[in-house]
Amino acid sequence: MTSIDDSAAVMARGLVKTFGANRAVDAIDLEVRRGEIFGVLGPNGAGKTTMVRMLATLLPIDGGRASVLGHDVAHEAHIVRQLIGLTGQYASVDEDLTGSENLRLFGRLRGLSRSAARGRAETLLEQFGLSDAAGRPARTYSGGMRRRLDLAASLITRPPVIFLDEPTTGLDPRTRGQMWTTIRTLVDEGATIVLTTQYLDEADQLADRIAVIDHGTKVAEGTPDQLKTLVGSSTLQLTLTDPMQLSAAASVLQQVIGETPAPTPELVRLTVPLADADRTADALIALRENGIGVESLAVQKPSLDEVFLALTGKDTEPSATDVQTRKEVA
Ligand SMILES: Nc1ncnc2c1ncn2[C@@H]1O[C@H](COP(=O)(O)OP(=O)(O)O)[C@@H](O)[C@H]1O
Ligand SMILES: [Mg+2]
Repeated sequence: MTSIDDSAAVMARGLVKTFGANRAVDAIDLEVRRGEIFGVLGPNGAGKTTMVRMLATLLPIDGGRASVLGHDVAHEAHIVRQLIGLTGQYASVDEDLTGSENLRLFGRLRGLSRSAARGRAETLLEQFGLSDAAGRPARTYSGGMRRRLDLAASLITRPPVIFLDEPTTGLDPRTRGQMWTTIRTLVDEGATIVLTTQYLDEADQLADRIAVIDHGTKVAEGTPDQLKTLVGSSTLQLTLTDPMQLSAAASVLQQVIGETPAPTPELVRLTVPLADADRTADALIALRENGIGVESLAVQKPSLDEVFLALTGKDTEPSATDVQTRKEVA
């Protein structure tokens, strides 16, 4: 189709999926560039899986259109299927087959010859650290091993575009870290990755760009840094040597930075929004000139967590005090 931009790895315009009265995906636009990790960040029920399943030709599109590497998902589904790998939130491997048998089966289903399927299976088992477990039934695998086997199965034919639907949900931190390394390796080898996640730190760590979705709509898009900037500036946090100087310090900071500092519950600390981190030095100089001692200071960028809360206005949003406490814990 001439109207579809074939330079994008994945493109969606006004994508819609309805389940009865529920608009699970409600007019989403996406443009995933070749070679990037594109993060789709949203809470449970946001519409991530539904969107990915439409892009992967597994679910009919109710409105709008989508393409993968220039091929229309609805009209060229057979081509699109050759170009993508999909790893589901729930592993699609056969419990009773061994790791090796599972991968050889996927290879055969993907049209590889018997020997090609065996060779590819061995390579992938090796690459994913499953060689030792290759002869064991998948039901004996740990959660992390199953997830790796599932990912390996989706990579049998070296697809250029890989959809990873919550690849690390429910995994322990160490296994998540291994999965992150694997994902980065796939990109280094030339793949484009669309990764859905509920984990803010995962999107922050892995994704080049992130679309934040909630209730089927995209509420924001950008690099992790752009999203952080959307929510606001950095904050300057100061701990004073003498708590008695708190109000004096507050008025000095008000003059220098032009923002009203907020004291924390312990009353030795001040938190000031900071549009420009360079003003930190000005603030410190002014405090010293006024004889106010500073014990410690930190400049903090907002976390993606705060970004998400600010963008979606969830009522789970903690109070200002909670945010403060959480930052201190972090
Ligand atoms: N097969 C289905 N039938 C009816 N409703 C569905 C179906 N699949 C998903 N939904 C609904 O669509 C919305 C989005 O779900 P989903 O795409 O699974 O979200 P996520 O993957 O972000 O958790 C939810 O409200 C969910 O209940
Ligand atoms: Mg899902």
